[in-house]
Amino acid sequence: MADFSFVEQDLAYVLLSEDDIKAKVRELGEAISRDYQGKRPMVVGILKGSLVFMADLIRSVTIPLSIDYVAISSYGRSTDSSGVVRIIKDLDEPIEGRHVLVVEDIVDTGLTLRYLLDNLQSRGPASLKVCTLLDKPSRRKVDIVPDYNGFEIPDEFVVGYGLDYAENYRNMPFIGVLRRSVYEQE
Ligand code: IMP
Ligand code: MG
Repeated sequence: MADFSFVEQDLAYVLLSEDDIKAKVRELGEAISRDYQGKRPMVVGILKGSLVFMADLIRSVTIPLSIDYVAISSYGRSTDSSGVVRIIKDLDEPIEGRHVLVVEDIVDTGLTLRYLLDNLQSRGPASLKVCTLLDKPSRRKVDIVPDYNGFEIPDEFVVGYGLDYAENYRNMPFIGVLRRSVYEQE
């Protein structure tokens, strides 16, 4: 087992263990494999947060698929969504007529996803759905309900398994709640 004790002092508690995540990712992969049978979906990850989740998820999907990535401007160092969203890296391929499944790390206010989904929808995909690992429904500012959701979590700032604070903690294989003192002192 890799030793991630360097993050312990920054975490209030571990919310989801490596095993919790593994089991859920397998479940999501099975559901997607079933629902997209014969459709060769294009799975679109949102960088950088979904990188780790996406890598595990596609390996639990047992039907043909293709992948692509978009990068979107994010919070910077703050923990609150600005609502100002910008595509920094667009898709490599057109999605017209494709079954597109957007993979996100966490849906919080929903502002990021609302913007991206409206943008992608205008390109004429055959279908457009969302798979998120985490959902914080209590924080929602726009009406977005993910089609696939791993875990509903409380209104806490979480890190690990791709999720960051100021670009740190993405490499943790589990998800933890960040101590308030880490971001409130700034
Ligand atoms: P939204 O636009 O408020 O839904 O924000 C979505 C994005 O904010 C996610 O893709 C994450 O990058 C980031 N985010 C929201 N909540 C958290 C969190 O608890 N930890 C780390 N990143 C978060
Ligand atoms: Mg982020």
